[in-house]
Amino acid sequence: MNQTPQHIAVIMDGNGRWAKKRLMPRTVGHVRGAANVRHMVKACNDLDIRYLTLFAFSSENWRRPPDEVSALMGLFLQYLENEVAEMKAAGIRLRVIGDRSAFAPLLQSRIDQAEQDTAHNTRLNLTIAANYGGQWDVLNAMRAWQIAHPHKTLQEMDANALAAHLSTAELPDPELLIRTGGESRISNFLLWQTAYTELYFTDAYWPDFDSAALKAAIDWYAQRVRRFGRTDDQVSAEPQSAVEKADKAMPDLAARFKIS
Ligand code: IPE
Ligand code: IPE
Ligand code: MG
Repeated sequence: MNQTPQHIAVIMDGNGRWAKKRLMPRTVGHVRGAANVRHMVKACNDLDIRYLTLFAFSSENWRRPPDEVSALMGLFLQYLENEVAEMKAAGIRLRVIGDRSAFAPLLQSRIDQAEQDTAHNTRLNLTIAANYGGQWDVLNAMRAWQIAHPHKTLQEMDANALAAHLSTAELPDPELLIRTGGESRISNFLLWQTAYTELYFTDAYWPDFDSAALKAAIDWYAQRVRRFGRTDDQVSAEPQSAVEKADKAMPDLAARFKIS
């Protein structure tokens, strides 16, 4: 196998422990984490990765102490203010997914502006998940589908129809998910979209996850055999790209084997 992912998703975890290890306040870890977002975006753009989706703030992170939540909101605003001009120049398109209605009006308007300002860019698609929860996304998609099809019943909704209403509708599913910080869980990130994603867990804290670490994750991904339910023999008889393509256009296979 020698495949490269076109979409990498990252759970950027470990900022707090990075700081604690150095006897510094957690917020210093978040400042370093935000600086690393900048490096990671550049590294992915340099490697011609087409989609990078970063988990910046979960719908559960509101449970943190108010000071920490404010610091994170401040860093998000600062990130948008500092980076958008450069994103425009570098051909990066920014999207933000998650329930942004909970954010302060200024932050909401900066997000809208950043999305508009970069909407015509076609190199790296950078998506920041903020106040995002995978369960929220699926529920929201179901509701949006029902609003779009008021005369249909839920029986008529299929997987593709639901996916078309997810916040990631314009993005392919990630082939590779990286979680830094040593935990092996999804923490309510892209639940639907990671159904067949390769999961890479590393102990490195997010501020320490550099471009060499990224390359190691991509090399690990290159060695994976993606079967999508098939056997090894079936997969080796076909090029990997054909196997992946077939996954996208999966008919109702079970129906063919129905025993009546
Ligand atoms: C991830 O780092 C950043 C956010 C969740 C915003 P953490 O803040 O979770 O760092 P740890 O897990 O406490 O070390
Ligand atoms: C996941 O990290 C969310 C983000 C990286 C934004 P958490 O640190 O919030 O995850 P848990 O609570 O340890 O699962
Ligand atoms: Mg954490």
